[in-house]
Amino acid sequence: MKRDILIRNLPSDIRQWIDNQRKRSRMSQQEFMTKLLNDISGNAQLRMPNSTERAVKMSTGKLPFSFVDLFAGIGGFRLGLEGIGGKCLFSCEWDKYAQKTYSAWFGDVPEGDIREIEPRSIPDHDILTAGFPCQPFSIAGVSKKKSLGREHGFKDQTQGTLFFHLARIVEQKRPPIAILENVKNLRSHDKGNTWAVIKKRLESLNYRVYSDIIDARHWVPQHRERMFIVCFDKEMFGDTPHFSFEPIPKPRKRLFGDILEPAPPSKYILSDKLWNYLQAYAEKHRQRGNGFGYGLTDLEGISRTLSARYYKDGSEVLIPSDNGGNPRRLTPREAANLMGFPSRLPITVSDTQAYKQFGNAVVPKVVEFVGRRALAAVCELIRESGNSCLLKNQRKANR
Ligand SMILES: C[S@@+](CC[C@H](N)C(=O)[O-])C[C@H]1O[C@@H](n2cnc3c(N)ncnc32)[C@H](O)[C@@H]1O
Repeated sequence: MKRDILIRNLPSDIRQWIDNQRKRSRMSQQEFMTKLLNDISGNAQLRMPNSTERAVKMSTGKLPFSFVDLFAGIGGFRLGLEGIGGKCLFSCEWDKYAQKTYSAWFGDVPEGDIREIEPRSIPDHDILTAGFPCQPFSIAGVSKKKSLGREHGFKDQTQGTLFFHLARIVEQKRPPIAILENVKNLRSHDKGNTWAVIKKRLESLNYRVYSDIIDARHWVPQHRERMFIVCFDKEMFGDTPHFSFEPIPKPRKRLFGDILEPAPPSKYILSDKLWNYLQAYAEKHRQRGNGFGYGLTDLEGISRTLSARYYKDGSEVLIPSDNGGNPRRLTPREAANLMGFPSRLPITVSDTQAYKQFGNAVVPKVVEFVGRRALAAVCELIRESGNSCLLKNQRKANR
């Protein structure tokens, strides 16, 4: 093999050094040696082959790739994937307020109801992303639907079946990779049956399916566990893509106090009526031996999960007063900060809509992490196969 020829006459300590360096830079021996020679000689004829260049670019997160953003909300997936070189070709979101935010941030208005979108009209893409609606599966959504005597999970006719529309798009468009996100409870909903059905459907489409619960606290000062599902087309990646969610980075040192605004308006302070109600409610549940109630957040720690219902009373993430008064809720900008949305993005909707949007969103930094991991699997495949046009769009373009 070429790589043996490159290094066979070298002393063992140098071979050891090469091995360590190339592992650190995630290159094969041949790639590393070629790069080293390139660097040393500056000789244009020793340039790395195209596939290797692509692989190296990918591992550093600079590979251009395309994606579509389904159930886009305000574009948490889009921000995360654009941050690592992705180009969004299509988005779909039916809520007009979310569309307003999305268009203010990205310059285009998403398509509406996914059920009315003809899959063939969606452009070919490398990665399909979707944070499909979670209310049919979330603990809060399920108990609300039960209390109203309504069906939940797949039996919820309006929202529970949207996964199957998504699966139909995957079936027709066959993206090399799909990244889906949902609440943690998806895994245990209906004693695990819901997740079993979803996984089986994706596997029946010939995808290798990985899933894990990731806590956004590794990136933002918020406990927010979400289920991430990463699917690889087996036709392209085989049965065992080089993919793993591990290792997840250590939690960042960012503290809840860091995301607060210096002088929030007094309108965010809870009224006596609401504060008394929340305390009485918490006390009632404490006596019954359970932990329901408001969350007064430690400024030196992390907050509870921001939910889409935060606009109602803000109870899950309250900020203690520093003068003994009533606590306050987050401002919309602080909610954005808590989710890791950059401050350059304007908030163009009402407070209520902003809280809903941030509470529904995915943390872009987590998407960036999962996206990088998925691209690393592509990178490994390119290295193994030496094929420089792995991704769908490039494959087509080169035909
Ligand atoms: C969990 S949120 C996704 C949030 C998104 N990941 C983000 O970062 O903002 C699900 C989204 O699906 C949208 N949705 C629900 N039903 C839909 C439908 N039939 N067609 C299009 N969008 C829909 C909801 O309005 C909601 O914004």
